[in-house]
Amino acid sequence: MTKENILKTYFELIENPRNIYQNAQLYEQNRFNSEEIKPFLRLSDADIEAKMTKSNVLDYRPDAVKTEEWESQNKRFMNYHRSLTPFTLINGLPFNHYLGIKTGLAYAENKVVLDVGGGTGQTFVNFFQYPHKLTYFLIDPNLRLLHDQFIRIYPQLLTLKMGHILGFGEKLPFKDSSADIVLCFAAIDHMADYKQFLVESKRVLKEKGQILITGHIDAPMTKRASRFLGQLFSATFFEFLARKMHQLTNRVAIDDHTVHFDNTQVIENELKNLGFRIEQSEIIKGRQFYILAQK
Ligand SMILES: C[S@@+](CC[C@H](N)C(=O)[O-])C[C@H]1O[C@@H](n2cnc3c(N)ncnc32)[C@H](O)[C@@H]1O
Repeated sequence: MTKENILKTYFELIENPRNIYQNAQLYEQNRFNSEEIKPFLRLSDADIEAKMTKSNVLDYRPDAVKTEEWESQNKRFMNYHRSLTPFTLINGLPFNHYLGIKTGLAYAENKVVLDVGGGTGQTFVNFFQYPHKLTYFLIDPNLRLLHDQFIRIYPQLLTLKMGHILGFGEKLPFKDSSADIVLCFAAIDHMADYKQFLVESKRVLKEKGQILITGHIDAPMTKRASRFLGQLFSATFFEFLARKMHQLTNRVAIDDHTVHFDNTQVIENELKNLGFRIEQSEIIKGRQFYILAQK
């Protein structure tokens, strides 16, 4: 983006207040062109040119990976995307920062990062502390644009470029041993075949490369009910009410996951079978987990 366009973007947002619960204004990511992504992909130059859209998104979605269940869950998921608000952003950030600092990956420099199921690509600037020193790729089967909330908070998003690939974790377009870090935040539980994604991750990672996976822990019904009651009778009751009304209006699904994990063991075993070494693993407050493993 040129300096002129960046200034124009911010000028329009000045004195243009947004409410927490309103639909977001969407912005395109700042993307690498085909020449810039060629060195990382295992496709021919002609194939890259053919799959590249005018706005520099490489469409690498094979139909075969889309199952009927994935399609229907995904439809519900896209409603969730459209109604994401700054409430979700500010409440999700502590987890990102905790994870980045604990794993040390927040300080990564001079690395090639593949953010699989990366959604909007916000991780580029809200997980990494030196994004300008990384080569970052966003890989996701859905074209999820940037909400104005990100643009308001992270000016780097308008200046730094990322690679943007429409594709599935189960079939990555990258060359063997081309990446230093594979991230998969809250996406493994949306996949049709997460085991195949782990196989692909092993292939694209360099020797000693790392994979960081997060996901939700499937809480028992009793725990979910007590959480719900806790919110109902807390000081944030009106906030809770506004959020629920916003979600209802936008038909947000209560649960849009395709896979549920009640512990980290099954993924850890899968990673070990593939030859990964588990470096860290934690279930946080019974709700979310993360696993860091090295090839
Ligand atoms: C809950 S969102 C997480 C987005 C992002 N990682 C974040 O933390 O903000 C899950 C994402 O997984 C994507 N997804 C669904 N199936 C996938 C697949 N098979 N491979 C890669 N991503 C997938 C969805 O499109 C969605 O953007």
